[in-house]
Amino acid sequence: MTTSDQDARRLPAPARAAVALEQNAGLDRAVDALRRATGPLDTSALGAVLRGEWLGHALHPLLTDLPLGMWTATSVLDLVGGPGSRDAARRLVGLGVLAVAPTAVSGWAEWRRTDRAIQRVGVAHAALNATAALLYAGSWTARRRDRHRVGAVLALAGAGVAGAGGYLGGHLTSARKISSRHPAFEGPRSQAAEAGPATPALPDPTAAPLSAPHPSGSDVVGAIAAQHAKITALLQAVGAAGPEERGSRLGELLGYLAGHEAVEEVLVHPLLPGGDAQEAARQRVTEEDGIGQQIDRLEQLEPGSPSFSTQFALIEEAITHHAQAEEREELPQLARALRDSDVSLILSALEAQEAAAAGRRGSFAEMLVAAKNDVRLSMPAPSAN
Ligand SMILES: [Fe+2]
Ligand SMILES: [Fe+2]
Repeated sequence: MTTSDQDARRLPAPARAAVALEQNAGLDRAVDALRRATGPLDTSALGAVLRGEWLGHALHPLLTDLPLGMWTATSVLDLVGGPGSRDAARRLVGLGVLAVAPTAVSGWAEWRRTDRAIQRVGVAHAALNATAALLYAGSWTARRRDRHRVGAVLALAGAGVAGAGGYLGGHLTSARKISSRHPAFEGPRSQAAEAGPATPALPDPTAAPLSAPHPSGSDVVGAIAAQHAKITALLQAVGAAGPEERGSRLGELLGYLAGHEAVEEVLVHPLLPGGDAQEAARQRVTEEDGIGQQIDRLEQLEPGSPSFSTQFALIEEAITHHAQAEEREELPQLARALRDSDVSLILSALEAQEAAAAGRRGSFAEMLVAAKNDVRLSMPAPSAN
């Protein structure tokens, strides 16, 4: 979460409800179950298509226009179209229901790249939209049985529930700015935004349509959580690999992990505020050291041996626990503590290390040292506080 209690009290009631969802740990079981169910969306080509990587930004907001547009038109026809529009209204309801599946899957592909607080809201957003889809499916069924009045009432109920779901979707994209976008939108445009216009002005309708939001602490949290998701996928790839390809899969994982941990050790942990946050950071550093030692032992083992599998299972559990602890205890405080310059620094470092991951060679310890040196050398010196 990136909204302090004091800030939250100043919010309008709907936004306070959305922030309360971000902080509701009771949603974590549903989040964990859905994370397991949607894992293939992280690394598959389908996931990239659904995230809109071919478009330059997220696909999901575009697809939501399909069911919501058709359902809105349905109620307009119900209210003012008269008996002659009943067939058209029924077809619109049905087509809207058919459009739900691709829209929802594109949303899950986005959702997987966000941090836990955002994922809690995403679960509530999805539950509301699923309820709306059921109401519209009921509306379609009623219309098929010539019970048009019942169908119209169910459609209006669906509109109300879809409106609440849409509000949470707006919270995620507008307030939390979690929609994925091409990295090219992170740089020059952000600097221009930092300089600001010469005079305050209304938004220019002729401006570039793909204006990127100014990166914030929540973008850093999202980027780190996205790398955690990638690490989870790489861990699974090692576990699923046969003996012959296990070594190369492990190399991919360790090259990626080295860059990620280097950024955290050099830039992220030192930027955390004092008190509990620093204590949490110390625990994470201790865990990172322990994971490094466990990986040292793993690298001595034959990838096809049973002891390799046992040691790897321990490491997988340790890394998963470590990433969850960072997301739960460290990242919310980090987002609040970051200055604009810190945000740019960390986002650039994460991106650079991700790009360098595939080219790293040697043991994990060697790759980690090289990655830390890269982070220190290629970036301006991090702030001391
Ligand atoms: Fe870490
Ligand atoms: Fe991490």
